Amino acid sequence: MNKYKITTYGCQMNVHESEKVAGLLEKLEYSATDDINEADIVVFNTCCIRDTAEMRAFGNIGVVKHQKKKNPNLIVVVVGCMSQQEGYLDIFKQKYPYVDIVLGSRNIAMLPKMILESKNSKSKFRSNLQPDDYLETDEKTPVTRTSFPNAWVNIIYGCNNFCTYCIVPYVRGREISRDIDSVVKEVKSCVDEGYKEITLLGQNVNSYGNDRSDGASFAKLLAEIDKIEGKFRVRFMTSHPKDLNEEIVDIIANSKKICKNIHLPAQSGSNSVLEAMNRRYTVEHYLSLIDMIREKMPDCGITSDIMIGFPTETEQDFEDTLTLIKKAQYSSAFTFVYSPRQGTIAAKMEQISPAVKKSRIMKLVALQNSVTRQISKNYIGKEYEVLVEDKANKLDGYMCGRTDCGRLVTFKGDENLIGEFVNVKINEAHSASLFGNIVE
Ligand code: 5AD
Ligand code: SF4
Repeated sequence: MNKYKITTYGCQMNVHESEKVAGLLEKLEYSATDDINEADIVVFNTCCIRDTAEMRAFGNIGVVKHQKKKNPNLIVVVVGCMSQQEGYLDIFKQKYPYVDIVLGSRNIAMLPKMILESKNSKSKFRSNLQPDDYLETDEKTPVTRTSFPNAWVNIIYGCNNFCTYCIVPYVRGREISRDIDSVVKEVKSCVDEGYKEITLLGQNVNSYGNDRSDGASFAKLLAEIDKIEGKFRVRFMTSHPKDLNEEIVDIIANSKKICKNIHLPAQSGSNSVLEAMNRRYTVEHYLSLIDMIREKMPDCGITSDIMIGFPTETEQDFEDTLTLIKKAQYSSAFTFVYSPRQGTIAAKMEQISPAVKKSRIMKLVALQNSVTRQISKNYIGKEYEVLVEDKANKLDGYMCGRTDCGRLVTFKGDENLIGEFVNVKINEAHSASLFGNIVE
């Protein structure tokens, strides 16, 4: 049997798109392998959000050159955001001539056709970055899910926001939302198949429905999904602070299935930086959202993305970001160093020096760690329902899972528990991880 190996970079959207690549390849009777020496086809699902992600992908694609010498029939495929960047098709053709197929982020459904064409032709190279009717094709794309007990479900593709640092709107195109019925149908079938957590995906889930004329909205979608029967949880990401509103928060607060957990990236704590980023909210508005969420759901886990080193960021702006971190009390935050992306507005602005960026990221990480550590202490002695997800990292005989509010908990147990809901009493807290024991 032919084998495939997929390497995925980047966000959950890419993880899920790799599940679609796997679904398509399995329909062609390929089966999965982790060993490149066994593979007949290797797929790189790339990310270009920061320079580091891109360098990692280029590095690993480079390594395949030797593999292709050993096995000239190996098919090398590049999909995902990187391939969609202007000029990158030529980079692959010229610097990585052993790459056979390049597809954009809305073209993965064309993979089977491209493989057959490439196999049956003297000139192996194939590419397509221009899809026609994406939604229609995507609905029919098979999925091989790899994240049990979680199932990813796309609700909206693309982004219209054009934050000035971000490459995503250029590589993933304009927003297109699926219809409510299709999403609800997919969630139902995941629940019927035994998935216990459904994560709704979109670059900005709060824009869901804006591009449709049938009245669909994120609030309506959540309300419909909450009505589905069965024991399961729903998460969603990512929310944009300019669009998250009281109606949505009320639905979450009153729901049975939707986790009290909101990822609400602030990016910066300075109004002038937020304006230069084109984020279209102020720090005051952002903090009022946090107050509103906590008033309605005191136990809600709020997390964030914070970026330092954006062009124009002064020492005072950075101090304002530290102040925001203290006020917001995130259970955790992803922290990033701004990385200029070709073609974006911010890449053309005067850049902050690497030394300043380094010192700021270290201060930011240290502060968020201390906030997380402090918050973690409040969990000690309390009991939480946890969905068991996986074996604990490097701890034999231990499993891990998440609370409704999104905190990772480690406890004694075995693999048979994966996909079960258990009650765990927390007895130890180390910064981001909580430790406890299963109780009846
Ligand atoms: N440099 C650094 N971080 C970035 N992000 C998006 N673009 C960039 C960039 N050019 C971060 C933002 C976003 C997260 C997914 O990645 O914080 O919320
Ligand atoms: Fe990028 Fe902003 Fe869109 Fe998020 S909302 S994907 S940061 S442009």
